[in-house]
Amino acid sequence: MIEPKQYREAMARYAGHVQVVTTAAGGKRRGVTVTAACSVSDDPATVLVCLNRSNPKNQIFLDSGAFALNTLASDQQNVASAFSGEFGMDEDERFEEGDWDTIESGAPTLRGATVTFDCRLSDYTTLGTHMVLFGEVVGLRMGDHRAALLYMNRGYHHL
Ligand SMILES: Cc1cc2nc3c(=O)[nH]c(=O)nc-3n(C[C@H](O)[C@H](O)[C@H](O)COP(=O)(O)O)c2cc1C
Repeated sequence: MIEPKQYREAMARYAGHVQVVTTAAGGKRRGVTVTAACSVSDDPATVLVCLNRSNPKNQIFLDSGAFALNTLASDQQNVASAFSGEFGMDEDERFEEGDWDTIESGAPTLRGATVTFDCRLSDYTTLGTHMVLFGEVVGLRMGDHRAALLYMNRGYHHL
């Protein structure tokens, strides 16, 4: 058996593109900074994102039936920090970082992201500590080619 602490130490050596996954329901918005998100399929175009299910605030992602995966550029570290809770902001204050609109699903989408995948929640499952959300991409916004914001060795890096 691999201990959770040892596993987390191993994953700290793994470089991940920093993204903010967002949703909205019942007049509330939520966003979470993630690296556990990737492509699943190109037909139908589908992504997945893994969210900690011990956090009751993540229930809104299941209730809304939609999410947007906003992929961050190197100059958007302030957005990543806000949505990871680092600044201690409440949900609405976090959305004051960056410029937000919507495309198709109603989930908040970040202008200036390198790319945004706007998704309908097509399936989900739970595994251990996390829920895995599958999103069929119903809207796409491709930004300019810019340097990416990565997270590795417990710090932000640019690529
Ligand atoms: C770089 C980075 C990557 C993260 N990746 C994930 C992730 O993939 N899944 C997840 O559930 N939380 C992830 N987190 C933690 C969440 O961002 C954080 O727990 C959450 O935003 C706290 O929300 P709250 O303050 O509203 O409870 C990550 C945090 C950082 C800084």
